[in-house]
Amino acid sequence: MATNPFDQQQAIPGVKKIIAVASGKGGVGKSTVATNLALALREFGNVGLLDADIYGPSLPRMMGALNQKPTADGAKITPINRYGVKVMSIGFLVEEGSAIVWRGPMLFKAMDQFFRDVQWGELDYLVIDLPPGTGDVQLSLVQKVPVNYAIVVTTPQNISLIDAKKAIDMFERTGVKIAGVVENMSYMLNPANGEKIQLYPKGELDSYLDAKKLTKLAEIPFNTSVSLGSEAGVPIVESNSEGVESLCFKKLALNLNQMK
Ligand SMILES: Nc1ncnc2c1ncn2[C@@H]1O[C@H](COP(=O)(O)OP(=O)(O)OP(=O)(O)O)[C@@H](O)[C@H]1O
Ligand SMILES: [Mg+2]
Repeated sequence: MATNPFDQQQAIPGVKKIIAVASGKGGVGKSTVATNLALALREFGNVGLLDADIYGPSLPRMMGALNQKPTADGAKITPINRYGVKVMSIGFLVEEGSAIVWRGPMLFKAMDQFFRDVQWGELDYLVIDLPPGTGDVQLSLVQKVPVNYAIVVTTPQNISLIDAKKAIDMFERTGVKIAGVVENMSYMLNPANGEKIQLYPKGELDSYLDAKKLTKLAEIPFNTSVSLGSEAGVPIVESNSEGVESLCFKKLALNLNQMK
């Protein structure tokens, strides 16, 4: 009889809750949400941040930890501590800009090492930044560890929603609870008069969420200070913790912390 791949699921010792940040479409702001959420969650305990985007790791740069090298302690790798968050990324082990060409088995092995060979210690939250789509990394994640919640990030327009639906479908099929959807770059506040500018047209996201009984967890505005912060390696929640965008991330963290 074929074995059930979900039988391989094993908790990560010491880690209380695993939160996966996913999207169907690329470039909608998963890594931005994952980093700022991780920082906002510090208020509720010890936080780890795992960059599972094997093919395009962004977290070393976004967390201001470029060129840092994790040290090995026996068979275990010690994650990088940045802004009080334990960070691990394949980007710490390879040169930025070099391509990683891995087939399925190597990727599965790497995911195993992230979970089993990294000294995560006692964590209240491990936030996982996923690559876009519904491929091998996502599947291997949900098979290997019990993910408590998935957060699906999308931008407002239908072009992104079409792909977000696929990510939602994948989590539903694999039995992962979806905390809700984050609408990123939801609008922009005109600096001159404070009016909302709709950078992307509103699609059918709200009616889709209603029909699926899914929650919109946050509407995060577009603000160049968010992207500049990511480039500079100082996430907005760290540099301007009371700004509109940071308050959105903090509310998101609060919401998650209230979930059972
Ligand atoms: N709310 C925002 N305001 C301004 N810029 C943003 C916002 N959210 C994301 N960005 C910018 O958009 C770009 C894409 O964001 P990010 O890298 O987080 O997306 P991603 O979904 O992780 O992409 P990928 O699919 O490549 O992993 C980055 O330059 C980021 O700084
Ligand atoms: Mg990313």
